[in-house]
Amino acid sequence: MLINQQPYRTIWHDAAERYVEIIDQTRLPFEFVTHRITSFDMMLVAIKSMQVRGAPLIGVAGAYAIALAMKEAPSDSHLSQSAALTIACRPTAVNLAWAVQRMQNKLMPLAATERPSMAWREAAAMAEEDVHQNRAIGQHGLKLLQDQLFEVKARTAANPLNVLTHCNAGWLATVDYGTALAPIYAAHDADMPIHVWVDETRPRNQGASLTAWELARHGVPHTVISDNTGGHLMQQGLVDMVIVGADRVTRDGDVCNKIGTYLKALAAYDNHVPFYVAVPSPTIDWQIRADAIEIEHRQPEELSCVSGLTPEGGLSHIRLMPAETPILNPAFDVTPARLVSGFITEHGVVQTAGLAALEFSIRNID
Ligand code: MRU
Repeated sequence: MLINQQPYRTIWHDAAERYVEIIDQTRLPFEFVTHRITSFDMMLVAIKSMQVRGAPLIGVAGAYAIALAMKEAPSDSHLSQSAALTIACRPTAVNLAWAVQRMQNKLMPLAATERPSMAWREAAAMAEEDVHQNRAIGQHGLKLLQDQLFEVKARTAANPLNVLTHCNAGWLATVDYGTALAPIYAAHDADMPIHVWVDETRPRNQGASLTAWELARHGVPHTVISDNTGGHLMQQGLVDMVIVGADRVTRDGDVCNKIGTYLKALAAYDNHVPFYVAVPSPTIDWQIRADAIEIEHRQPEELSCVSGLTPEGGLSHIRLMPAETPILNPAFDVTPARLVSGFITEHGVVQTAGLAALEFSIRNID
């Protein structure tokens, strides 16, 4: 990603392996701030408070949390304890548990003295893999968008291909490129006329605050809509495709993603709009069934309050409802496989029926 003409990733570490740097996503879109994370505890705070967020990114952040923990004390007990604490930070996105488990598998057989340097190397390798996977998702998704452009007849800048997305599954949700937005960036870079409908994504507004911000940095035409608008636009023929990311996909093709994704999938199905899920393989949980996925419930204040700029330019947090109002705030929902047209993976585009073959080929590559 390019920010003010400077290339950035969402997470990186210093050459001497003393600290990790992150972009603080709680300050966007109003301020671009990076933080230096120097301890295991600081990384847990960054994950829990959503300074870093998005399934692939919290996976890599979790791996770096273990690297920081190993710098502090590389014993067996500290490794197990820090792994459990990291996984508990956010339960729904499988990438976090997957990454921490991979770190444990790599580090546990080693002598304690060898663990710190291996931990930094493994976390950095995961960051690199994430970038490669997302770049490949971008190329496979580009082909899909080109086919769709052909299908809906040639479009022009004045009448572009319209893609709707939910939440933020872009640069900021990954180490770089994004998942759902990777094909969109690739299409824009290939001069394809493309426009993005960005769901605001209440309650935290990751669409309005993060997706809109990064699309603007890359110069991709986009419009923010309220979460209730997508179905109406589909009825008007103004959505050619939906592309979302995922926090966990089951081997049956059920998709757990940001709350509200299910309603978009239902509307897409009813209006014959293709509904695609961009998903790197670490986001596929080959073991779990949809009804066993733990849905994270977040603080009531996310729903009862909004944050934004005052006319004077200060950041303010205001309440929208009576203080005593009861609130339910599940952060994710599950879209059944029957509503999904296909999965854009780093290995190509597959339908639900193709996931088993994908698992087989991934295991053979590994
Ligand atoms: O709660 P968040 O902001 O971490 O949720 C993020 C999402 O739901 C994304 O759509 C998902 O992680 C896919 S990101 C490539």
